Amino acid sequence: IEVLSVASEIYPLIKTGGLADVAGALPGALSESGVTMRTLVPGYPAVIGKMSGGREVARFDDLFGVSARLIAGRVEGLDLIVLDAPSLYERPGNPYMGPEGWDWPDNWKRYAALSWVASELGLGLVDGYRPQIIHAHDWQAGLAPAYVKFGPSSNIKTVMTVHNMAFQGTFGAEIFAQLKLPAHAFSMEGVEYYGGVGYLKAGVECADVVTTVSPTYAAEIRTPEFGMGLDGLLNNRSSTVHGVLNGIDMNAWNPATDPALAQTYTAGTMQGRLVNKRAVQEAFGLEALDGPLFAVVSRLTWQKGIDLLAANIELIVDSGAQLAVLGSGDAELENAVRSAAKDHPGKVGLVTGYNEKLSHLVQGGADVMMVPSRFEPCGLTQLYALRYGCVPLVSRVGGLNDTIIDANVVAIQAEVATGVQFAPPSQSALADAIRRMLVLYADEKSWKKMQRRGMKSDVSWETSANRYAQLYASLIGYSTDDSQ
Ligand code: ADP
Ligand code: GLC
Repeated sequence: IEVLSVASEIYPLIKTGGLADVAGALPGALSESGVTMRTLVPGYPAVIGKMSGGREVARFDDLFGVSARLIAGRVEGLDLIVLDAPSLYERPGNPYMGPEGWDWPDNWKRYAALSWVASELGLGLVDGYRPQIIHAHDWQAGLAPAYVKFGPSSNIKTVMTVHNMAFQGTFGAEIFAQLKLPAHAFSMEGVEYYGGVGYLKAGVECADVVTTVSPTYAAEIRTPEFGMGLDGLLNNRSSTVHGVLNGIDMNAWNPATDPALAQTYTAGTMQGRLVNKRAVQEAFGLEALDGPLFAVVSRLTWQKGIDLLAANIELIVDSGAQLAVLGSGDAELENAVRSAAKDHPGKVGLVTGYNEKLSHLVQGGADVMMVPSRFEPCGLTQLYALRYGCVPLVSRVGGLNDTIIDANVVAIQAEVATGVQFAPPSQSALADAIRRMLVLYADEKSWKKMQRRGMKSDVSWETSANRYAQLYASLIGYSTDDSQ
């Protein structure tokens, strides 16, 4: 099965969040299920810089008013098709925003171009390459299913994966005329969304199959609370909406070999974590204490419940615990954590900015990984935490609900608990969860067991890669060995 994945970011070339990790890991995970996946990505400087060995496979004189070309090549084990359009993508830094933190005003064009090129590839733009399926990720690729639906008739099938309902790519109706779509595409059956144009809406409406990244989120987004305006549409399409849990790249995230760690370790040599803990404490300006070290590695936003965390910092410190926060995001939340760090020197530390290496070290050295999200489509940090023996403390939403077994009384008795969950996402429920975590930590023997269970839980792509392979196969009328 030949699939063209379309993504606006891909690890290890360009990453702002979990989407990049998923887009980067899927092709490798799927190759064992008989799926060949190439990925179409925008030619940001960080991507173009790696394409020196690539070859030009197509050229456009007028792609939404700019000249562009496609470069195909293999980079870091990924089979890429890069849309090299300097006037759209040759901008350093964050792919979506300028240096002032505002979305680029031509984002509608930047990602319409990406999606349009995807549909052209589906129609056989490049000699010798004919994908059977276009797999679009998030709003940036959301128009691809619409271009397929409203374009020349073809056998190409489309899959739309929603990684986050909060980012929908909505624009004013005035852009529609420039989208290269027929007039009737500006309708309920097409890209029209509350009077404007909705890219994610278009993808969810037009794709043959819609997936999201956990079963719980797949159910949640059919409610007004989580659907963010798309719940009605998702309910209409509920038989074609699937929740497929993300896995993690087991090679990039392996505590036994991870070069970012001060000390590698396995479930059998967990004392090695102490060396990492000291390194984390040093990196965050914390004292070398032996009490529980809580950590956060996250975008600092409302989604991630960072305000709930900030409101509980006193509790953490008063309990003799420490807190290390790695992240950046909303200035207000960043400042809240920064001032807590000032108030509690040696106990609370903040490192802002994006630091992939430090994110690994934190997983390898902290005792507790906090993910107090208000909503969380899947969440990857709690999966990395499991793999690294860092015990997750999570809210009971989305993929956090599906991946962590709460240490309630029966789960402890049955020896299956892997972390602590709390609900609802409120300051007081998080406070209770922190207290429960402290009690668990105090029982050294059962704590170690919980760490080991996490390290042994299956967070790989295996099951979910098969699930995607089955979805692809059913779309194009193939049967796979283990289908159903
Ligand atoms: P989301 O995609 O919503 O941000 P996920 O949990 O799916 O959440 O993925 C977040 C990814 O980004 C993880 O790989 C996490 O380690 C990484 N990450 C988040 N913030 C930082 C940071 N400041 N430095 C390094 N990595 C980060
Ligand atoms: C989004 C979600 C996150 C998910 C990631 C990868 O960024 O916020 O929960 O893990 O996509 O699917």
